Amino acid sequence: MDAPNKGFAFAGSLDELKAKGRLVVHGRHRPILVIYDRGRVFALDNRCPHMGFPLERGSLDDGILTCHWHHARFDLESGCTFDLWADDVPICPTEVRNGEVWVKTTFGHANPAAHWRQRLADGLAHDLGLVLAKAVHGQLAADVPRADIVRQVALFGAQNRDGWGVGLTILTALANLLPFLPEEEAYLALFHGARRVAADCDGEAPRRDRAPLESRPDPTALKGWLQRWSNVRHREAAERTLLTAIASGLSPPVLADILLAAETERVFADTGHSLDFINKAFECLDLIGWEHAPAVLPTIVGQMVAARGAEESTAWRQPADLVALCEETAKQLPDLFAASGARPGWSDHATLARELLGDDPVRIVGSLKAAVRAGAAPADLGRSLAYGAALRVARFGTANEHADWETAHHVFTFANALHQMLDRIGTAADGVAAVRGVLHGAMALYLTRYLNVPPARIPGENGEHLDDLPADADTILATLLDAFDRQRQVDLAAKLVARHLSLGHSPQALIATLARAALREDAGFHAYQMLEAGVRQFTAWGNTDAGRHILIAVARYLAAHSPTERAALQTADIARRLMLGAELHQEAGA
Ligand code: FES
Repeated sequence: MDAPNKGFAFAGSLDELKAKGRLVVHGRHRPILVIYDRGRVFALDNRCPHMGFPLERGSLDDGILTCHWHHARFDLESGCTFDLWADDVPICPTEVRNGEVWVKTTFGHANPAAHWRQRLADGLAHDLGLVLAKAVHGQLAADVPRADIVRQVALFGAQNRDGWGVGLTILTALANLLPFLPEEEAYLALFHGARRVAADCDGEAPRRDRAPLESRPDPTALKGWLQRWSNVRHREAAERTLLTAIASGLSPPVLADILLAAETERVFADTGHSLDFINKAFECLDLIGWEHAPAVLPTIVGQMVAARGAEESTAWRQPADLVALCEETAKQLPDLFAASGARPGWSDHATLARELLGDDPVRIVGSLKAAVRAGAAPADLGRSLAYGAALRVARFGTANEHADWETAHHVFTFANALHQMLDRIGTAADGVAAVRGVLHGAMALYLTRYLNVPPARIPGENGEHLDDLPADADTILATLLDAFDRQRQVDLAAKLVARHLSLGHSPQALIATLARAALREDAGFHAYQMLEAGVRQFTAWGNTDAGRHILIAVARYLAAHSPTERAALQTADIARRLMLGAELHQEAGA
């Protein structure tokens, strides 16, 4: 029986409850379990907060309710769990009126935003996936801005491990995509970001704060010092120098310049990850606010100074000494830029990108120098490099070993990060030292030329109409998701992307679908990087041939890594259904 009375529903007579020990109240609300125990009446959500199985099947002993399914234990009075992985069970007030038991059917919190903020903190601290999913869902439902959730997770990640990590990179990459994502995908993106940060911090020692110097040297001195400390791997000195630069009030573009100068002291360090992490830390601060720079930016210093450069690698030294070629060219850069002066009208990005895919390193470097002479700015070089690297992925031959996808991916994400950093520096600093990164990226791209032997054909080229594929946008995107349900659908995914864009359908809808495809998987770190870098680069080109090639590269990479078990999606789905009050596993209680 369900007779609302000031939000209360009639559960049964007290005598009946005493006789049966427990009753379940059904109605338009979630099922409520009412329990009589040692002279008192309790009511709680009948759906176990762990996976939703009915708690009515649980056992009761000494005020502790134990779920029948995975044996999570709950304090009957408060609903608080003794097993953190299961989460607390919501309770509701009860009243006994003239021998009748009434329960309040609405669950809620006086301040939902504050409640779910605390639960997010709990989930992060104890690496509790289900709690994280509910906390993200709860905050979104309480209209907490997405950026606030990102900030909370990012600051936790920065403070609770000794350096920037994969989790913070994933969080930032996914947060960058939020403007493209509908509600459901935004929930998944924030959940994945939070769970990966929590996993990164689990069992780690928290970070120790360091202080800036008490002097305020000029930016040129700080830049030189940071390069010096990076060279000799002196982390403490490098962190204090960077903190001093931040405390001096240097702008983000100038900070980018001095960090990139230090980073490019080594060649393609840590196969590009070190530079990518630096860029992501900058993007994270764009999202959460630059007032957090002292907490966030120094976290990338440890990896930067410890990173191993390609100059120690045989492949970069023989048969051609690519490192020497880069060093020799880098010495010429100041004069080249001084003589040309960047001209805003330079627009040969696509031509330069194709030249960068050549098989002669001297000619590749020559093309870069010619572009500078013609007026290309550092960011122009970065954009061309990123497009060239995307073409490497778009044409990746599937006869290569599967692990080689990562080789192609490393160059692309490095190039994208470098492009973003050079773009950020703009004209705020000379940025010439940072352009060494373009030389390094160009040589890394050269070294991966075998990945395109033979090259995969890019669909939609040379008048190919792809008329055997669907024409309307919804069907194309549904077919694309269906392709990601099966292994080895790389070519079909590429064709569907080409079909969608060549028909002039919405790139936004395509990006949301690609994001959906990645977010439903137990995606690896690289998949998120690939997706976000691809969307960044597509944004620079729009729906042009180059833009289409870039999203084809993304789709091919994702298709090569799908499907997975989708275990995280299951957790997110359980949390969402529990939060929405849906009845789960009702048959289990029958
Ligand atoms: S412990 Fe209750 S459903 Fe798992």
